[in-house]
Amino acid sequence: MPEIYLDNSATTRVRPEVVAAMVRVMEEDYGNPSSVHRRGQAAEQAVKAARRAVAEVLAVSPEEIVFTSGGTEANNLAILGLARARARQGRHLITTAAEHHSVLEAFHRLENEGFQVTYLPVDREGLPDLHALAEALSPETILVSTMHVNNEVGAVTPLEEIAQLLNQRKPRPAWHVDAVQGFARLPLLPYRLGIDLVSLSAHKIRGPKGVGALFVRRGTRLQPQLLGGGQEAGLRSGTENVPGIVGLGVAARLAWEERAEAVAHMSKLKARLRDRILAEIPDTVANGPKERGAPHILNISFGGLRGEVLLHALEERGIYVSTGSACSSHHAPGSHVLAAMRLPPALRDGAIRFSLAPTNTEEEIDYTVECLKEIVPELRAVMRRR
Ligand SMILES: Cc1ncc(COP(=O)(O)O)c(C=O)c1O
Repeated sequence: MPEIYLDNSATTRVRPEVVAAMVRVMEEDYGNPSSVHRRGQAAEQAVKAARRAVAEVLAVSPEEIVFTSGGTEANNLAILGLARARARQGRHLITTAAEHHSVLEAFHRLENEGFQVTYLPVDREGLPDLHALAEALSPETILVSTMHVNNEVGAVTPLEEIAQLLNQRKPRPAWHVDAVQGFARLPLLPYRLGIDLVSLSAHKIRGPKGVGALFVRRGTRLQPQLLGGGQEAGLRSGTENVPGIVGLGVAARLAWEERAEAVAHMSKLKARLRDRILAEIPDTVANGPKERGAPHILNISFGGLRGEVLLHALEERGIYVSTGSACSSHHAPGSHVLAAMRLPPALRDGAIRFSLAPTNTEEEIDYTVECLKEIVPELRAVMRRR
């Protein structure tokens, strides 16, 4: 049976160049980067090289990159750290209803601390309402947090339009972008747009799990959320995860070098998968934007079915997908993103997310469609008999 992995927004398979670099650093540069002897300095050089590689993708300076344990920690540090540092300047924060839980939960915590949070509604395509943003902004607003690419439906936030709104404001609130799903695939230039904080994660781009980074624009004050030895310019104490950081550096550099080809390939596969499913399987609906869609994320509702049942039936054929986001599968009930998009409950229940990597092939897409054409009518017949 073939194995077809179409759950790359949950996580990706680590690429061999990354594994090789990580093994090398574990075996050879095993020192603590804070140690002043040669072993420590070699580890520090390895961390420095990774910092440069990540900084290059964002066109920022290496000193502005803070390594973290992943996207979740980067989001927590950005949101909690910024709000707590600026609490005296204002108590109002803005985000959107379709953010990742690591953003939403951080805002919920801040609400408990007395901050007021506006959750912008999103439209039927998953894009935030920018009129609501313009109305919500006030002199009390200290932070706006918007994701780059939505992890469930692939909506790409119009960051240029948000930049125009924010850059007119005086005082201008800080702006955080959760770029976990777009980093090193879609261009994101913090300095051109005026973004102060950007979160990213290694395991979405064929790097290891448990490592990520936060871009902190020079001059942006954050309250550290981990206290200790003062690593990462005092913003993130704890001995650095050197192998993970090295893996992130290699994954970021390679993903960035290969992005044009990767985006073209994944866009073609996504279009093929979407067009074939919609044309060949009745009662299917694509969720998310037609135009402003990320090249690698496709969300489809199969009417009359439960996504979970379809997921397991596909698994029987060696095909791995997810319902909504893997990270939210512990959160009941259902997808908050599809709910925010006001999808009727039946379509929410039948939603499946297919997410691609540059390594997927046209044959895999065609095999998946052929399996779906067999499985979906069978499962619908079973549902009808119940
Ligand atoms: C948009 C988004 N933000 C944040 C995260 C969390 O990243 P990590 O798994 O590295 O903690 C994810 C993971 O799925 C994500 O998709």
